[in-house]
Amino acid sequence: MDEKLALTVGDVHDYWNTHTLGLQYVTDRNVQPGTPEFFAHIRPWMNPYKFPWIMERIDREAQLLNGKHLLEIGCGMGYDSLEFLKRGVRVTATDLTPNAVAITRQHFDLERVQAEAIQTANALDLPFTDNTFDAVWANGVLHATGDTRRAIQEAKRVLKPGGRAIISHFYRKPSWMYLLHHLGRENIEYKEEDPPVNEFYTEDEILDFFQGFEVVEAVREHYRLLLVRRSGLKANLYTYVLRPMYNVLPESVAKKFAYKLSVTAIKL
Ligand SMILES: C[S@@+](CC[C@H](N)C(=O)[O-])C[C@H]1O[C@@H](n2cnc3c(N)ncnc32)[C@H](O)[C@@H]1O
Repeated sequence: MDEKLALTVGDVHDYWNTHTLGLQYVTDRNVQPGTPEFFAHIRPWMNPYKFPWIMERIDREAQLLNGKHLLEIGCGMGYDSLEFLKRGVRVTATDLTPNAVAITRQHFDLERVQAEAIQTANALDLPFTDNTFDAVWANGVLHATGDTRRAIQEAKRVLKPGGRAIISHFYRKPSWMYLLHHLGRENIEYKEEDPPVNEFYTEDEILDFFQGFEVVEAVREHYRLLLVRRSGLKANLYTYVLRPMYNVLPESVAKKFAYKLSVTAIKL
């Protein structure tokens, strides 16, 4: 890994180690991280519950992967892995940051599910041998690593031939979020800055990352704007200008400017 990329990984690590996805949704200061109340409190805001298409994808994939071994890259607090475990998939849950790994471990213990392993791992340099997993799952992660192409090729390396890469929520351009992104790192949902790296790509660029795969699905998602709680310049523009204008567009037009692309691909 060259020096510039190593520095980026350091910045990404430091940001996510103190901003584990989920912590920003805590609105009750009495709720202690790692407790059952904590996981229940933030659960509605976490991806598989907030974005129904993620849960549908988990349901569909888990049926194909029952008893097989899935690697999750960038597991955050482990909500997606938890759903796979509950559906009979063997899971190795990984994240770049020790804090995410520690919270995921507490989460699985509370839910009484058993992963194959829960450990730190860098998507750009996975600590697994070639051809290990039946599936790789990453949700909202690879475009935030500093080298998306390399992350996808690492996923390919650790997949068995015929294995499934299920990569959700690449950030698209053009999209409504790409427009907002130009207004700075202020987050519109919570009182924190966005991560140091969030790369936006055209669909052609994203699909080109999947060399050595057969892409079986590439679907545009998040093409309606949800309610947010924040105020401030960026959030107000979102709430009072962009959201009302965009959400009345017919679906076929709105989808052209969808925020996210999710790709399922099979290693050749
Ligand atoms: C937006 S969060 C998504 C978390 C989880 N997938 C979810 O949907 O709840 C991004 C996650 O990717 C992790 N991450 C960022 N760069 C990574 C890397 N190079 N390798 C592994 N994980 C990484 C972060 O630590 C963070 O937990």
